[in-house]
Amino acid sequence: MKKVRIGIAGLGRLGMTHARNIAYYTVGAELTALCRRDPDALQAAGEELSVQDLYTDFDEMLQNADIDGVAIVTASDSHARQAIQALRAGKHVFCEKPLGISAEECRQVEQAALARPDLVFFPGFMRRFDPSYQYAREKIDAGLIGEPYLFKGFAADPMSTIEECIQYGGKGSGGLFMDLGIHDMDLARWFLGEDPTGVFAQGGSFHYPIFTQRGDAEAGIASYTFASGKMAVLHAGRAAPHGYHVETEIVGTKGSIRISPTPRKNHAVLYLQQGVVTECCENFPQRFEEAYRLELQAFVDCIRRGKQPGVTVTDGRKAVQIAQATTRSFREKRYLEISYASFLR
Ligand SMILES: NC(=O)c1ccc[n+]([C@@H]2O[C@H](COP(=O)([O-])OP(=O)(O)OC[C@H]3O[C@@H](n4cnc5c(N)ncnc54)[C@H](O)[C@@H]3O)[C@@H](O)[C@H]2O)c1
Repeated sequence: MKKVRIGIAGLGRLGMTHARNIAYYTVGAELTALCRRDPDALQAAGEELSVQDLYTDFDEMLQNADIDGVAIVTASDSHARQAIQALRAGKHVFCEKPLGISAEECRQVEQAALARPDLVFFPGFMRRFDPSYQYAREKIDAGLIGEPYLFKGFAADPMSTIEECIQYGGKGSGGLFMDLGIHDMDLARWFLGEDPTGVFAQGGSFHYPIFTQRGDAEAGIASYTFASGKMAVLHAGRAAPHGYHVETEIVGTKGSIRISPTPRKNHAVLYLQQGVVTECCENFPQRFEEAYRLELQAFVDCIRRGKQPGVTVTDGRKAVQIAQATTRSFREKRYLEISYASFLR
């Protein structure tokens, strides 16, 4: 079977990880074009990845590169426009989260994707592909914890990378709830099998006031209501002193499942004067290394088999609608109902 030729746009913190995964780990794929705005960094990436077809402009890559699909890993406020352009150019699309930073632009992406059922559209919710989350999902589907009724998500970036986060997490990222919390909003829907109907969120800055000065929060919490009475809570933060910590709990009528209650770097345990020590996971590429590879493999497998993925453009749109309502609730300090209005239904 012919290899799927992929062009990638955005070669920053995550983009280089995805580019290496496509080039070296994705069966049936070939990394054939790169797009990055900084010409020197683009050249360096081309040399590292042995890719010669280089572009500083996304639209030029779409027009001129000999590619079947694109991976969009640019700044979040570019995703929607680029995804629509790529679909119109007849390319399969892998789009990093969030699909866009407003519900309006996500509805446009959804409309463009649903108009081209012949093209694969894959929103990058990599936690769904992480082996531990997959395992939890299988146990829930098998009825092991009964009916799941409560989702608890905790997501914290490490304080050690705060400067990077301050630089990256500005307006273009959509803020704490859109940028970081969105993974848990997607997982809450996935595990509980239902969309939240309302949210009350709070947030503040306790080490770095710059987040509050920008109208954002360094740390925040959100509580979600569901029509059936199910519940979800989220705690997200930018400055965990101990490292990168993503922990999830799903509580059901017969039991519960916890994923990564100890966010360990690896399986080693140190026995020292200060006690028994497990070093903490350092960052997202380390924690989700396998998930990033598996999601790209799933994207390429869908293209080769002519199938759509289990995670859809509508999942991407709904997660942004939840994140947008969460951000508004935090800013307006009140409970808000979540609207899932769409152009199409
Ligand atoms: N799924 C995850 O776990 C996860 C983790 C980190 C980041 N992300 C997402 O990935 C995206 C990139 O994040 P990052 O941390 O790599 O950011 P980054 O700032 O390190 O890199 C972004 C790159 O995109 C380039 N870029 C921005 N706009 C562009 C445009 N219009 N055309 C071409 N290039 C453009 C920038 O020059 C930079 O090289 C974000 O949307 C973020 O939400 C997802």
